[in-house]
Amino acid sequence: MTDQVRTVLITGAGAGLGQRLAALLAERGLAVALADVSAPGLERTLKLLPADASAIAITSDLTADGAPAAAVKQVVDAFGRLDILINNAGYGAIEPFLGMTAALWHKTLSINLVALAMMTAAAGEVMRDQRSGRIVNITSPASRMALPNYTAYAASKAGVDAVTRAAALALAPFGVLVNSLAPGMMDTEMQRSTELDLARIEGRSDVEAFLDERTRRVPLGRRAEIDEVAAGVLWLALDAPPYVTAERLNLSGGLDRD
Ligand SMILES: NC(=O)c1ccc[n+]([C@@H]2O[C@H](COP(=O)([O-])OP(=O)(O)OC[C@H]3O[C@@H](n4cnc5c(N)ncnc54)[C@H](O)[C@@H]3O)[C@@H](O)[C@H]2O)c1
Repeated sequence: MTDQVRTVLITGAGAGLGQRLAALLAERGLAVALADVSAPGLERTLKLLPADASAIAITSDLTADGAPAAAVKQVVDAFGRLDILINNAGYGAIEPFLGMTAALWHKTLSINLVALAMMTAAAGEVMRDQRSGRIVNITSPASRMALPNYTAYAASKAGVDAVTRAAALALAPFGVLVNSLAPGMMDTEMQRSTELDLARIEGRSDVEAFLDERTRRVPLGRRAEIDEVAAGVLWLALDAPPYVTAERLNLSGGLDRD
């Protein structure tokens, strides 16, 4: 890579992990493109960036036809290149296995899996032509668990693992690296609402005790700090040796094990 400013596109940059990644990557001097369906979320993220950051906000429902390719084009039009893609946008909701709906399956798969695959291909074309690039897909320990109340989400993340492996092979001849990272439980908006629904569906009114039990299932005995997970993503996106591809990095306090 030359000494040109490196550029990164982060999906789901309007909240949670994506928002923190945007701030950290801008602090590291990268030009950041922030994509999210939530315009207010993107506004909040922009305010967290250093004053001299080079940044664009792309308000887009990435599940819409052609939206991933359009987002990638906006980045290249603005910055001239795309060095890193972080596929972080995600959605998950609790539904009991018996009684689950096609609507939730479609909603979950369309952002977590289809949009991620289309985004990877669109960015992959730019990176192929550049002969360099790194893609980091955010997966989940759920992808390898049996979760009867969270099946659509778990299946979507198992799909992310499949896309990561395939993309790593498709893009390897061009020196483009594709890896994934599985975060442990972080206290973000998504995690909070999911666990409240889970408590309800499991008939638990003692929500604090329920959350404590879940925390104690993590071998390290605590939840993940967003910054710990972000540090892992930054490592894969910026610092990992260029021989690392098709890897799945478990950052879940021992919850998920190879
Ligand atoms: N929070 C956790 O404990 C946890 C654990 C494992 C994996 N993950 C994964 O980490 C990633 C980030 O999660 P988070 O907890 O920060 O979630 P979050 O809900 O706080 O943020 C997700 C962001 O994605 C955006 N988004 C959702 N649908 C979109 C769409 N159609 N188009 C564009 N943007 C869209 C949302 O607006 C939101 O800003 C997700 O992929 C999630 O599955 C989270």
